[in-house]
Amino acid sequence: MITSRTSSLLFVAVTCLTLPVHSLTNYANDFVDPTYVLAKNYSTWTTPSQETILQWANDSTSGGPWSVTTKPYLAPSGDKHDYMSWAPYAWPDCTGVGNTTELTPQQIWTTCPYVTRDGQFNPDGRDINNVGDFDSLANAVLYNSLAWAFTGSSLYSGRVATFINAWFINADTYMNPNLNYGQMQRGPNGQTGSHTGLLDLKCMAKIASGILVLRIGKAAEWTSDIDDQFVAWINKYIQWVTTASIALAEKAATNNHGSFYYNQLASLQIMANDNDGAEKTLDEYFTGIYMNQIAANGDQPLESIRTRPYHYRAYNLAAMITNARLGEYVGYHAWNKTTAAGVTIQAACDYAITKPAGDETASELYPDVAAIASVYGDSGNKYTKYLVASESKQYVWDANFFWNQPLTDSGFAASAPTSMSKAAGGTDGPSGTGTSTAPTGRSTVGTRPDNAALALATGSWGTWLMFYGACTVVMGASFLEFL
Ligand SMILES: *[C@@H]1O[C@H](CO)[C@@H](O)[C@H](O)[C@H]1NC(C)=O
Ligand SMILES: *[C@@H]1O[C@H](CO)[C@@H](O)[C@H](O)[C@H]1NC(C)=O
Ligand SMILES: *[C@@H]1O[C@H](CO)[C@@H](O)[C@H](O)[C@H]1NC(C)=O
Ligand SMILES: *[C@@H]1O[C@H](CO)[C@@H](O)[C@H](O)[C@H]1NC(C)=O
Repeated sequence: MITSRTSSLLFVAVTCLTLPVHSLTNYANDFVDPTYVLAKNYSTWTTPSQETILQWANDSTSGGPWSVTTKPYLAPSGDKHDYMSWAPYAWPDCTGVGNTTELTPQQIWTTCPYVTRDGQFNPDGRDINNVGDFDSLANAVLYNSLAWAFTGSSLYSGRVATFINAWFINADTYMNPNLNYGQMQRGPNGQTGSHTGLLDLKCMAKIASGILVLRIGKAAEWTSDIDDQFVAWINKYIQWVTTASIALAEKAATNNHGSFYYNQLASLQIMANDNDGAEKTLDEYFTGIYMNQIAANGDQPLESIRTRPYHYRAYNLAAMITNARLGEYVGYHAWNKTTAAGVTIQAACDYAITKPAGDETASELYPDVAAIASVYGDSGNKYTKYLVASESKQYVWDANFFWNQPLTDSGFAASAPTSMSKAAGGTDGPSGTGTSTAPTGRSTVGTRPDNAALALATGSWGTWLMFYGACTVVMGASFLEFL
Protein backbone atom coordinates (compact mmCIF):
# COMPACT_ATOMS: atom_id res chain seq x y z
CA MET A 1 0.00 0.00 0.00
CA ILE A 2 2.76 2.38 1.01
CA THR A 3 4.67 1.31 -2.08
CA SER A 4 1.72 2.07 -4.32
CA ARG A 5 1.25 5.52 -2.76
CA THR A 6 4.92 6.30 -3.09
CA SER A 7 5.15 5.13 -6.67
CA SER A 8 2.01 7.08 -7.63
CA LEU A 9 3.43 10.25 -6.12
CA LEU A 10 6.73 9.60 -7.81
CA PHE A 11 4.92 9.12 -11.11
CA VAL A 12 3.08 12.43 -10.78
CA ALA A 13 6.29 14.21 -9.78
CA VAL A 14 8.25 12.77 -12.70
CA THR A 15 5.39 13.63 -15.08
CA CYS A 16 5.45 17.22 -13.85
CA LEU A 17 9.15 17.53 -14.48
CA THR A 18 9.10 16.01 -17.95
CA LEU A 19 5.71 17.12 -19.30
CA PRO A 20 6.28 18.67 -22.74
CA VAL A 21 5.29 22.33 -22.63
CA HIS A 22 4.79 22.77 -26.34
CA SER A 23 2.19 20.13 -27.01
CA LEU A 24 0.91 19.58 -30.53
CA THR A 25 -1.59 22.21 -31.63
CA ASN A 26 -4.03 21.30 -34.38
CA TYR A 27 -4.04 24.56 -36.36
CA ALA A 28 -7.29 25.15 -38.27
CA ASN A 29 -5.44 25.01 -41.58
CA ASP A 30 -2.44 26.43 -43.38
CA PHE A 31 -0.31 26.02 -46.48
CA VAL A 32 3.45 26.02 -46.03
CA ASP A 33 5.28 26.99 -49.21
CA PRO A 34 7.67 24.15 -50.15
CA THR A 35 9.95 26.65 -51.87
CA TYR A 36 10.64 28.32 -48.52
CA VAL A 37 11.10 24.96 -46.79
CA LEU A 38 13.47 23.53 -49.40
CA ALA A 39 15.57 26.72 -49.82
CA LYS A 40 16.68 26.14 -46.21
CA ASN A 41 17.58 29.78 -45.78
CA TYR A 42 15.85 30.06 -42.43
CA SER A 43 16.41 32.86 -39.99
CA THR A 44 18.49 31.45 -37.14
CA TRP A 45 15.96 32.44 -34.57
CA THR A 46 13.45 29.99 -36.06
CA THR A 47 15.55 27.32 -34.31
CA PRO A 48 13.13 26.94 -31.37
CA SER A 49 10.18 26.44 -33.74
CA GLN A 50 12.21 23.86 -35.68
CA GLU A 51 12.80 21.96 -32.44
CA THR A 52 9.07 22.04 -31.79
CA ILE A 53 8.38 20.71 -35.30
CA LEU A 54 10.81 17.82 -34.73
CA GLN A 55 8.98 17.03 -31.50
CA TRP A 56 5.57 17.28 -33.17
CA ALA A 57 6.78 15.05 -36.02
CA ASN A 58 7.14 12.29 -33.42
CA ASP A 59 4.11 13.21 -31.31
CA SER A 60 1.81 13.36 -34.35
CA THR A 61 2.43 9.69 -35.21
CA SER A 62 0.54 8.51 -32.13
CA GLY A 63 -2.38 6.34 -33.28
CA GLY A 64 -1.14 6.10 -36.87
CA PRO A 65 -1.30 4.80 -39.51
CA TRP A 66 -4.94 5.77 -39.85
CA SER A 67 -7.66 4.41 -42.13
CA VAL A 68 -11.40 4.88 -42.57
CA THR A 69 -11.76 1.10 -42.40
CA THR A 70 -11.11 0.90 -38.66
CA LYS A 71 -14.33 2.59 -37.50
CA PRO A 72 -16.65 0.50 -35.29
CA TYR A 73 -19.78 1.03 -37.45
CA LEU A 74 -20.20 0.89 -41.21
CA ALA A 75 -21.69 3.67 -43.32
CA PRO A 76 -25.26 2.96 -44.53
CA SER A 77 -23.73 1.68 -47.79
CA GLY A 78 -22.20 -1.23 -45.89
CA ASP A 79 -18.85 -0.50 -47.58
CA LYS A 80 -16.01 -0.31 -45.07
CA HIS A 81 -14.04 1.91 -47.46
CA ASP A 82 -16.64 4.68 -47.19
CA TYR A 83 -15.64 7.65 -45.07
CA MET A 84 -18.22 8.51 -42.42
CA SER A 85 -18.74 11.19 -39.79
CA TRP A 86 -21.82 12.51 -38.02
CA ALA A 87 -23.09 16.08 -38.11
CA PRO A 88 -21.25 17.51 -35.09
CA TYR A 89 -23.97 19.79 -33.69
CA ALA A 90 -26.90 17.34 -34.17
CA TRP A 91 -28.65 15.99 -31.06
CA PRO A 92 -31.41 13.36 -30.85
CA ASP A 93 -34.86 14.48 -29.71
CA CYS A 94 -36.54 11.26 -28.60
CA THR A 95 -39.51 12.87 -26.83
CA GLY A 96 -41.99 11.78 -29.53
CA VAL A 97 -40.65 8.25 -29.86
CA GLY A 98 -42.37 6.69 -26.80
CA ASN A 99 -40.54 4.95 -23.98
CA THR A 100 -36.92 5.36 -25.06
CA THR A 101 -35.30 3.79 -22.02
CA GLU A 102 -34.54 0.60 -23.86
CA LEU A 103 -33.39 2.05 -27.19
CA THR A 104 -29.91 0.98 -28.21
CA PRO A 105 -27.64 3.69 -29.60
CA GLN A 106 -28.20 2.30 -33.10
CA GLN A 107 -31.99 2.54 -32.64
CA ILE A 108 -31.66 6.14 -31.44
CA TRP A 109 -29.61 6.98 -34.55
CA THR A 110 -32.39 5.77 -36.84
CA THR A 111 -35.65 6.43 -34.93
CA CYS A 112 -35.19 9.76 -33.09
CA PRO A 113 -35.31 12.98 -35.11
CA TYR A 114 -32.14 15.07 -34.76
CA VAL A 115 -32.05 18.81 -34.04
CA THR A 116 -29.13 21.19 -34.55
CA ARG A 117 -27.67 23.14 -31.62
CA ASP A 118 -25.12 25.43 -33.25
CA GLY A 119 -21.70 25.30 -31.66
CA GLN A 120 -22.56 22.45 -29.25
CA PHE A 121 -20.64 19.29 -30.10
CA ASN A 122 -22.51 16.02 -29.57
CA PRO A 123 -19.74 13.98 -27.94
CA ASP A 124 -20.86 10.77 -29.65
CA GLY A 125 -19.54 12.28 -32.89
CA ARG A 126 -16.11 10.99 -31.96
CA ASP A 127 -17.34 7.38 -31.59
CA ILE A 128 -16.75 7.33 -35.33
CA ASN A 129 -13.57 9.27 -35.61
CA ASN A 130 -12.70 9.35 -39.31
CA VAL A 131 -12.65 13.16 -39.01
CA GLY A 132 -10.22 13.21 -36.09
CA ASP A 133 -8.09 10.58 -37.78
CA PHE A 134 -7.86 12.68 -40.94
CA ASP A 135 -6.72 15.68 -38.88
CA SER A 136 -4.08 13.46 -37.26
CA LEU A 137 -2.96 12.23 -40.67
CA ALA A 138 -2.68 15.80 -41.99
CA ASN A 139 -0.57 16.91 -39.01
CA ALA A 140 1.66 13.84 -39.26
CA VAL A 141 2.25 14.38 -42.98
CA LEU A 142 3.05 18.09 -42.50
CA TYR A 143 5.41 17.77 -39.53
CA ASN A 144 7.19 14.65 -40.71
CA SER A 145 7.81 16.18 -44.13
CA LEU A 146 9.24 19.31 -42.50
CA ALA A 147 11.34 17.11 -40.19
CA TRP A 148 12.68 15.31 -43.27
CA ALA A 149 13.63 18.68 -44.79
CA PHE A 150 15.46 19.65 -41.58
CA THR A 151 17.30 16.36 -41.04
CA GLY A 152 17.28 14.39 -44.30
CA SER A 153 16.33 11.37 -42.20
CA SER A 154 14.35 8.62 -43.92
CA LEU A 155 12.61 7.99 -40.60
CA TYR A 156 10.33 10.98 -41.29
CA SER A 157 9.79 10.62 -45.06
CA GLY A 158 9.19 6.89 -44.60
CA ARG A 159 6.43 7.62 -42.10
CA VAL A 160 4.69 9.93 -44.56
CA ALA A 161 4.79 7.28 -47.28
CA THR A 162 3.38 4.70 -44.86
CA PHE A 163 0.57 6.99 -43.69
CA ILE A 164 -0.47 8.08 -47.20
CA ASN A 165 -0.43 4.49 -48.35
CA ALA A 166 -2.71 3.35 -45.52
CA TRP A 167 -5.33 6.09 -45.92
CA PHE A 168 -5.46 6.38 -49.71
CA ILE A 169 -3.83 3.44 -51.49
CA ASN A 170 -3.53 0.06 -49.73
CA ALA A 171 -6.10 -2.37 -51.15
CA ASP A 172 -7.44 -3.33 -47.74
CA THR A 173 -7.48 0.07 -46.02
CA TYR A 174 -8.00 2.75 -48.70
CA MET A 175 -10.80 5.34 -48.57
CA ASN A 176 -13.30 5.52 -51.43
CA PRO A 177 -12.75 8.88 -53.17
CA ASN A 178 -15.97 10.54 -52.01
CA LEU A 179 -17.62 12.04 -48.92
CA ASN A 180 -21.10 10.63 -49.48
CA TYR A 181 -21.39 10.03 -45.71
CA GLY A 182 -19.57 13.08 -44.34
CA GLN A 183 -21.28 14.87 -41.41
CA MET A 184 -24.14 12.45 -41.92
CA GLN A 185 -27.65 13.32 -40.80
CA ARG A 186 -29.19 10.74 -38.53
CA GLY A 187 -32.82 10.07 -37.61
CA PRO A 188 -35.71 8.67 -39.65
CA ASN A 189 -35.18 11.16 -42.50
CA GLY A 190 -31.39 10.98 -42.38
CA GLN A 191 -28.70 8.40 -43.15
CA THR A 192 -27.20 10.58 -45.87
CA GLY A 193 -24.18 12.87 -45.91
CA SER A 194 -24.42 16.68 -45.60
CA HIS A 195 -22.65 19.22 -47.73
CA THR A 196 -20.91 20.39 -44.52
CA GLY A 197 -19.07 17.05 -44.55
CA LEU A 198 -16.69 18.52 -47.13
CA LEU A 199 -15.21 20.54 -44.27
CA ASP A 200 -13.84 17.35 -42.73
CA LEU A 201 -11.08 17.14 -45.36
CA LYS A 202 -10.10 20.84 -45.40
CA CYS A 203 -6.62 19.99 -44.10
CA MET A 204 -5.68 18.67 -47.54
CA ALA A 205 -3.74 21.97 -47.51
CA LYS A 206 -1.44 20.57 -44.80
CA ILE A 207 -1.07 17.32 -46.75
CA ALA A 208 -0.20 19.28 -49.90
CA SER A 209 2.43 21.25 -47.95
CA GLY A 210 4.12 18.03 -46.85
CA ILE A 211 3.80 16.04 -50.07
CA LEU A 212 5.23 18.89 -52.18
CA VAL A 213 8.26 19.08 -49.89
CA LEU A 214 8.94 15.36 -50.34
CA ARG A 215 8.14 15.34 -54.07
CA ILE A 216 10.11 18.45 -55.05
CA GLY A 217 12.86 17.64 -52.54
CA LYS A 218 13.10 14.14 -54.05
CA ALA A 219 12.85 12.19 -50.83
CA ALA A 220 13.79 8.60 -51.68
CA GLU A 221 10.90 7.15 -49.68
CA TRP A 222 8.37 9.18 -51.67
CA THR A 223 8.64 6.90 -54.70
CA SER A 224 7.20 7.62 -58.14
CA ASP A 225 4.97 4.59 -57.58
CA ILE A 226 3.32 6.03 -54.47
CA ASP A 227 3.18 9.47 -56.07
CA ASP A 228 1.39 8.06 -59.15
CA GLN A 229 -1.11 6.11 -57.07
CA PHE A 230 -1.81 9.06 -54.80
CA VAL A 231 -2.34 11.38 -57.79
CA ALA A 232 -4.68 8.80 -59.35
CA TRP A 233 -6.75 8.81 -56.14
CA ILE A 234 -6.74 12.61 -56.05
CA ASN A 235 -7.96 12.85 -59.64
CA LYS A 236 -10.91 10.56 -58.89
CA TYR A 237 -11.72 12.54 -55.76
CA ILE A 238 -11.48 15.90 -57.60
CA GLN A 239 -14.06 14.51 -60.00
CA TRP A 240 -16.40 13.96 -57.03
CA VAL A 241 -15.56 17.30 -55.34
CA THR A 242 -16.37 19.21 -58.52
CA THR A 243 -19.56 17.36 -59.56
CA ALA A 244 -21.38 15.73 -56.60
CA SER A 245 -24.43 17.72 -55.54
CA ILE A 246 -23.45 17.88 -51.85
CA ALA A 247 -19.94 19.00 -52.81
CA LEU A 248 -21.35 21.78 -54.98
CA ALA A 249 -23.70 22.81 -52.17
CA GLU A 250 -20.65 23.29 -49.93
CA LYS A 251 -18.94 25.30 -52.64
CA ALA A 252 -22.00 27.57 -52.69
CA ALA A 253 -21.79 28.22 -48.91
CA THR A 254 -20.92 31.88 -48.42
CA ASN A 255 -19.15 31.55 -45.04
CA ASN A 256 -16.11 29.59 -43.79
CA HIS A 257 -17.52 26.38 -45.30
CA GLY A 258 -17.15 27.85 -48.77
CA SER A 259 -13.68 29.26 -48.01
CA PHE A 260 -12.46 25.85 -46.82
CA TYR A 261 -13.95 24.16 -49.90
CA TYR A 262 -11.57 26.27 -52.00
CA ASN A 263 -8.63 25.44 -49.65
CA GLN A 264 -9.31 21.79 -50.29
CA LEU A 265 -9.91 21.87 -54.03
CA ALA A 266 -6.89 24.09 -54.80
CA SER A 267 -4.66 21.86 -52.63
CA LEU A 268 -5.86 18.76 -54.49
CA GLN A 269 -5.24 20.39 -57.86
CA ILE A 270 -1.72 21.47 -56.87
CA MET A 271 -0.93 17.93 -55.68
CA ALA A 272 -2.31 16.61 -58.99
CA ASN A 273 0.15 18.90 -60.86
CA ASP A 274 -2.68 21.14 -62.11
CA ASN A 275 -1.50 24.57 -60.96
CA ASP A 276 -3.58 26.25 -63.68
CA GLY A 277 -6.68 24.58 -62.31
CA ALA A 278 -5.75 25.71 -58.79
CA GLU A 279 -5.31 29.27 -60.03
CA LYS A 280 -8.79 29.21 -61.57
CA THR A 281 -10.22 27.77 -58.35
CA LEU A 282 -8.63 30.51 -56.24
CA ASP A 283 -9.73 33.23 -58.65
CA GLU A 284 -13.25 31.88 -58.35
CA TYR A 285 -12.98 32.26 -54.58
CA PHE A 286 -11.48 35.76 -54.53
CA THR A 287 -13.89 37.10 -57.15
CA GLY A 288 -16.79 35.14 -55.61
CA ILE A 289 -17.78 34.53 -51.99
CA TYR A 290 -14.70 36.37 -50.67
CA MET A 291 -16.23 39.62 -51.94
CA ASN A 292 -18.88 39.54 -49.21
CA GLN A 293 -16.86 38.02 -46.37
CA ILE A 294 -15.23 41.15 -44.90
CA ALA A 295 -17.11 44.36 -44.09
CA ALA A 296 -15.60 47.86 -44.25
CA ASN A 297 -14.74 47.76 -40.53
CA GLY A 298 -13.05 44.35 -40.91
CA ASP A 299 -15.88 42.38 -39.34
CA GLN A 300 -16.75 39.02 -40.87
CA PRO A 301 -20.52 39.26 -40.44
CA LEU A 302 -21.18 35.69 -41.59
CA GLU A 303 -18.93 34.40 -38.77
CA SER A 304 -19.79 36.95 -36.07
CA ILE A 305 -23.44 35.83 -36.05
CA ARG A 306 -22.44 32.31 -34.97
CA THR A 307 -22.59 31.09 -31.37
CA ARG A 308 -18.79 31.09 -31.09
CA PRO A 309 -17.91 34.28 -32.99
CA TYR A 310 -14.27 34.54 -31.84
CA HIS A 311 -13.62 31.00 -33.06
CA TYR A 312 -15.41 31.46 -36.35
CA ARG A 313 -13.65 34.76 -37.17
CA ALA A 314 -10.26 33.12 -36.54
CA TYR A 315 -11.36 30.03 -38.44
CA ASN A 316 -12.41 31.81 -41.63
CA LEU A 317 -9.36 34.05 -41.37
CA ALA A 318 -7.23 30.88 -41.45
CA ALA A 319 -9.14 29.74 -44.53
CA MET A 320 -8.66 33.09 -46.30
CA ILE A 321 -4.94 33.11 -45.44
CA THR A 322 -4.59 29.54 -46.73
CA ASN A 323 -6.33 30.47 -50.00
CA ALA A 324 -4.00 33.46 -50.43
CA ARG A 325 -0.93 31.31 -49.70
CA LEU A 326 -2.03 28.62 -52.16
CA GLY A 327 -2.54 31.46 -54.65
CA GLU A 328 0.95 32.87 -54.04
CA TYR A 329 2.37 29.41 -54.74
CA VAL A 330 0.70 29.17 -58.16
CA GLY A 331 1.39 32.82 -59.06
CA TYR A 332 -2.02 34.28 -58.16
CA HIS A 333 -1.51 37.29 -55.91
CA ALA A 334 -4.47 37.73 -53.58
CA TRP A 335 -3.16 39.63 -50.56
CA ASN A 336 -4.15 42.97 -52.11
CA LYS A 337 -7.55 41.76 -53.34
CA THR A 338 -10.33 43.80 -51.78
CA THR A 339 -13.83 42.72 -50.87
CA ALA A 340 -16.91 44.62 -52.08
CA ALA A 341 -16.42 46.86 -49.02
CA GLY A 342 -12.91 47.79 -50.22
CA VAL A 343 -10.77 46.00 -47.62
CA THR A 344 -8.18 43.20 -47.67
CA ILE A 345 -7.68 40.10 -45.49
CA GLN A 346 -5.57 42.29 -43.20
CA ALA A 347 -8.68 44.23 -42.16
CA ALA A 348 -10.30 41.02 -40.91
CA CYS A 349 -7.28 40.39 -38.69
CA ASP A 350 -7.21 43.98 -37.42
CA TYR A 351 -10.86 43.68 -36.41
CA ALA A 352 -10.53 40.21 -34.89
CA ILE A 353 -7.71 41.23 -32.52
CA THR A 354 -9.89 43.96 -31.00
CA LYS A 355 -12.50 41.43 -29.84
CA PRO A 356 -12.05 39.63 -26.51
CA ALA A 357 -12.07 35.82 -26.61
CA GLY A 358 -14.46 35.59 -23.66
CA ASP A 359 -14.73 31.92 -22.76
CA GLU A 360 -13.43 30.83 -26.18
CA THR A 361 -9.85 29.74 -26.90
CA ALA A 362 -7.83 32.93 -27.43
CA SER A 363 -4.81 31.20 -28.99
CA GLU A 364 -6.78 30.16 -32.08
CA LEU A 365 -6.15 33.61 -33.50
CA TYR A 366 -2.37 33.73 -32.95
CA PRO A 367 -1.23 31.86 -36.10
CA ASP A 368 -3.48 34.14 -38.17
CA VAL A 369 -1.94 37.25 -36.61
CA ALA A 370 1.57 35.94 -37.26
CA ALA A 371 0.67 35.16 -40.87
CA ILE A 372 -0.76 38.64 -41.42
CA ALA A 373 2.32 40.26 -39.87
CA SER A 374 4.66 38.19 -42.03
CA VAL A 375 2.82 39.12 -45.23
CA TYR A 376 1.75 42.74 -44.78
CA GLY A 377 4.63 43.81 -42.56
CA ASP A 378 4.26 45.05 -39.02
CA SER A 379 4.78 48.77 -38.83
CA GLY A 380 4.82 49.87 -35.21
CA ASN A 381 5.19 46.23 -34.17
CA LYS A 382 1.43 46.09 -33.62
CA TYR A 383 1.08 42.38 -34.30
CA THR A 384 4.22 41.17 -32.59
CA LYS A 385 3.36 43.22 -29.51
CA TYR A 386 -0.07 41.57 -29.57
CA LEU A 387 1.49 38.11 -29.76
CA VAL A 388 4.08 38.82 -27.11
CA ALA A 389 1.40 40.15 -24.78
CA SER A 390 -1.15 37.41 -25.50
CA GLU A 391 0.89 34.27 -25.65
CA SER A 392 1.41 32.78 -22.23
CA LYS A 393 4.02 30.44 -23.62
CA GLN A 394 6.76 31.90 -25.75
CA TYR A 395 5.57 32.39 -29.26
CA VAL A 396 8.92 31.63 -30.90
CA TRP A 397 8.41 28.02 -29.84
CA ASP A 398 5.16 27.59 -31.75
CA ALA A 399 5.60 25.49 -34.89
CA ASN A 400 3.91 28.12 -37.07
CA PHE A 401 6.60 30.66 -36.12
CA PHE A 402 8.84 28.66 -38.48
CA TRP A 403 6.76 29.42 -41.57
CA ASN A 404 5.16 32.73 -40.55
CA GLN A 405 8.32 34.62 -41.48
CA PRO A 406 9.59 37.27 -41.51
CA LEU A 407 8.31 38.67 -38.23
CA THR A 408 9.72 41.65 -36.47
CA ASP A 409 11.80 41.05 -33.39
CA SER A 410 9.61 43.04 -31.06
CA GLY A 411 10.83 41.35 -27.93
CA PHE A 412 10.52 37.76 -29.13
CA ALA A 413 14.18 36.93 -29.23
CA ALA A 414 15.13 38.83 -26.10
CA SER A 415 14.10 36.15 -23.66
CA ALA A 416 13.59 33.09 -25.81
CA PRO A 417 15.12 30.10 -24.05
CA THR A 418 17.99 28.52 -25.93
CA SER A 419 16.53 25.07 -26.37
CA MET A 420 13.36 23.13 -25.87
CA SER A 421 14.84 20.80 -23.30
CA LYS A 422 15.96 23.79 -21.26
CA ALA A 423 12.45 25.21 -21.55
CA ALA A 424 11.04 21.92 -20.33
CA GLY A 425 13.21 22.04 -17.26
CA GLY A 426 15.82 19.59 -18.52
CA THR A 427 19.39 19.91 -19.66
CA ASP A 428 20.77 21.85 -22.56
CA GLY A 429 19.42 20.88 -25.96
CA PRO A 430 21.50 20.16 -29.03
CA SER A 431 21.20 23.41 -30.95
CA GLY A 432 20.57 26.51 -28.93
CA THR A 433 20.47 29.74 -30.86
CA GLY A 434 17.55 31.53 -29.27
CA THR A 435 18.96 35.02 -29.33
CA SER A 436 20.17 35.51 -32.83
CA THR A 437 19.64 37.89 -35.68
CA ALA A 438 16.18 38.94 -36.66
CA PRO A 439 15.18 38.27 -40.25
CA THR A 440 15.45 41.03 -42.80
CA GLY A 441 12.80 41.82 -45.40
CA ARG A 442 9.93 43.91 -44.10
CA SER A 443 10.91 43.47 -40.50
CA THR A 444 12.20 46.37 -38.46
CA VAL A 445 15.53 44.97 -37.40
CA GLY A 446 16.91 46.38 -34.21
CA THR A 447 13.73 47.71 -32.65
CA ARG A 448 13.20 45.84 -29.47
CA PRO A 449 11.03 47.98 -27.19
CA ASP A 450 11.79 47.33 -23.57
CA ASN A 451 8.13 47.11 -22.64
CA ALA A 452 7.54 44.29 -25.12
CA ALA A 453 10.59 42.40 -23.93
CA LEU A 454 9.40 42.85 -20.38
CA ALA A 455 5.96 41.57 -21.34
CA LEU A 456 7.51 38.44 -22.80
CA ALA A 457 9.75 37.89 -19.82
CA THR A 458 6.76 38.26 -17.52
CA GLY A 459 4.76 35.89 -19.69
CA SER A 460 7.57 33.38 -19.44
CA TRP A 461 7.77 33.47 -15.67
CA GLY A 462 3.98 33.41 -15.54
CA THR A 463 3.95 30.23 -17.59
CA TRP A 464 6.39 28.48 -15.31
CA LEU A 465 4.59 29.59 -12.18
CA MET A 466 1.30 28.36 -13.64
CA PHE A 467 2.89 25.12 -14.83
CA TYR A 468 4.51 24.24 -11.53
CA GLY A 469 1.49 25.58 -9.68
CA ALA A 470 -0.73 23.15 -11.59
CA CYS A 471 1.70 20.32 -10.89
CA THR A 472 1.70 21.18 -7.19
CA VAL A 473 -2.10 21.09 -7.15
CA VAL A 474 -2.13 17.71 -8.92
CA MET A 475 0.50 16.34 -6.53
CA GLY A 476 -1.39 17.73 -3.56
CA ALA A 477 -4.64 16.18 -4.80
CA SER A 478 -2.94 12.83 -5.37
CA PHE A 479 -1.49 13.02 -1.88
CA LEU A 480 -4.89 13.79 -0.30
CA GLU A 481 -6.42 10.88 -2.18
CA PHE A 482 -4.14 8.51 -0.32
CA LEU A 483 -4.69 10.01 3.15
C1 LIG B 1 18.44 34.34 -47.28
O1 LIG B 1 17.57 35.16 -46.52
C2 LIG B 1 18.10 36.45 -46.27
C3 LIG B 1 17.17 37.13 -45.27
O2 LIG B 1 15.82 37.02 -45.65
C4 LIG B 1 18.23 37.19 -47.57
O3 LIG B 1 18.75 38.48 -47.35
C5 LIG B 1 19.16 36.41 -48.49
O4 LIG B 1 19.22 37.02 -49.75
C6 LIG B 1 18.68 34.98 -48.64
N1 LIG B 1 19.68 34.21 -49.36
C7 LIG B 1 19.37 33.49 -50.41
C8 LIG B 1 20.50 32.71 -51.02
O5 LIG B 1 18.25 33.44 -50.89
C1 LIG C 1 11.96 11.42 -32.68
O1 LIG C 1 12.01 10.00 -32.76
C2 LIG C 1 13.27 9.51 -33.20
C3 LIG C 1 13.14 7.99 -33.37
O2 LIG C 1 12.64 7.42 -32.22
C4 LIG C 1 14.35 9.90 -32.22
O3 LIG C 1 15.62 9.46 -32.68
C5 LIG C 1 14.36 11.42 -32.09
O4 LIG C 1 15.29 11.81 -31.09
C6 LIG C 1 12.99 11.94 -31.71
N1 LIG C 1 13.02 13.40 -31.73
C7 LIG C 1 12.51 14.13 -30.73
C8 LIG C 1 12.64 15.60 -30.89
O5 LIG C 1 11.99 13.63 -29.77
C1 LIG D 1 -39.89 2.36 -19.81
O1 LIG D 1 -39.17 1.15 -19.92
C2 LIG D 1 -38.47 0.79 -18.74
C3 LIG D 1 -37.63 -0.42 -19.03
O2 LIG D 1 -38.43 -1.45 -19.59
C4 LIG D 1 -39.48 0.58 -17.60
O3 LIG D 1 -38.79 0.25 -16.42
C5 LIG D 1 -40.26 1.84 -17.38
O4 LIG D 1 -41.26 1.65 -16.42
C6 LIG D 1 -40.90 2.32 -18.69
N1 LIG D 1 -41.50 3.62 -18.48
C7 LIG D 1 -42.74 3.88 -18.86
C8 LIG D 1 -43.21 5.31 -18.58
O5 LIG D 1 -43.47 3.06 -19.40
C1 LIG E 1 0.21 45.09 -52.53
O1 LIG E 1 0.49 45.86 -53.68
C2 LIG E 1 1.57 46.75 -53.55
C3 LIG E 1 1.63 47.61 -54.78
O2 LIG E 1 1.66 46.81 -55.93
C4 LIG E 1 2.84 45.96 -53.30
O3 LIG E 1 3.94 46.83 -53.11
C5 LIG E 1 2.66 45.12 -52.06
O4 LIG E 1 3.79 44.28 -51.88
C6 LIG E 1 1.42 44.25 -52.16
N1 LIG E 1 1.21 43.61 -50.88
C7 LIG E 1 1.16 42.32 -50.75
C8 LIG E 1 0.97 41.81 -49.36
O5 LIG E 1 1.25 41.52 -51.66
